[in-house]
Amino acid sequence: MKDRKLQGKKILVTGGAGFLGSHLVDSLLKKGAKVVVLDDLSTGKRSNLNDALKNSRFKFIKGDVNDAKALGLIFKSFRPDYAFQYAAVVGVDRTQKKPLIVLNDLYGIANFFALAKKYGVKKTVFASSSEVYGEPIKMPNREDDPLNPKTTYGVVKAVGEEFVKVYNSIGSPGVALRFFNVYGPRQDASSEGFVVGKFIMQALAGKRPTVFGDGLQTRDFVYVDDNVEAVIRSLMSSKTNGEVINIVRGKPCTIEELAESVVAIVDKNLKPIHVAPRVAGEIRYRHADGSKMKKLINFSPKIELNEGLLKTIEWYRG
Ligand SMILES: NC(=O)c1ccc[n+]([C@@H]2O[C@H](COP(=O)([O-])OP(=O)(O)OC[C@H]3O[C@@H](n4cnc5c(N)ncnc54)[C@H](O)[C@@H]3O)[C@@H](O)[C@H]2O)c1
Repeated sequence: MKDRKLQGKKILVTGGAGFLGSHLVDSLLKKGAKVVVLDDLSTGKRSNLNDALKNSRFKFIKGDVNDAKALGLIFKSFRPDYAFQYAAVVGVDRTQKKPLIVLNDLYGIANFFALAKKYGVKKTVFASSSEVYGEPIKMPNREDDPLNPKTTYGVVKAVGEEFVKVYNSIGSPGVALRFFNVYGPRQDASSEGFVVGKFIMQALAGKRPTVFGDGLQTRDFVYVDDNVEAVIRSLMSSKTNGEVINIVRGKPCTIEELAESVVAIVDKNLKPIHVAPRVAGEIRYRHADGSKMKKLINFSPKIELNEGLLKTIEWYRG
């Protein structure tokens, strides 16, 4: 549905060919915005943008967000009203295998915020992550808790949040959103991908989902449509300027429960199997607090885990 505030607005989404970025792009286009995506297709796919590519208000540019010249040219020629920084090396396995490569994303972050200020972007949105909490010092995870990242990925996200705050304080408004475990159609379910998609793919192939360790690790799973709605509300509300906000359901779920929920839908006979814990230093508990999100953008996710899993499984079935 068209949205008066977004209709005709020019919006840049870096990393927009990825899972979250492409859903955001679809929603922005439905609301009447003009959207440019910059993505190097390292983990994103052109096919995620199949609908967008049919829209005359959409343009895809293949390129590296960490290349200051390429990013500068886009800001200069497109002059976005709003800009989203989603491009990043993602995934626990991938980022732990290549911890130093992740640090390159700091160049992209630094250039993105400098260019947004230079070209008078009305507001930026930075995709941060629950990984900034690392092994949490307190529970539930609240935005003003001390950070304790355990990976270079978490460190890069924590630095990105500081860029948001600094630029906001010098007249370039922005918000940092801490995403937890978002899931849904188009998410990478490969061996380097994410747990929901992996369990679904295993179950659909008639295999028992593989749970690392005892399965009592907890995560906060948010369906992608809820994520996109929270992101757009955060963009449009001036109350979020300069803030860091958890985007969460606030209902921790164990990995064992997730696996049980997947097989309950696909095939009850596929009991999850347990294997050795995946990586040293895997974060054990996430329990997110969503009260700041509720207060600032008056939003709570609507889609319960079972409903989200049904929609996701339907998509993977194709
Ligand atoms: N999905 C989640 O649960 C989750 C949780 C926390 C944070 N995040 C953050 O949200 C953002 C989107 O994540 P996602 O799950 O959609 O992952 P994704 O891998 O599907 O999307 C990331 C996109 O960025 C692109 N990209 C990576 N490096 C790039 C570069 N140097 N230049 C241009 N494009 C580049 C990739 O090709 C991909 O399309 C990321 O910043 C991620 O860290 C996601």
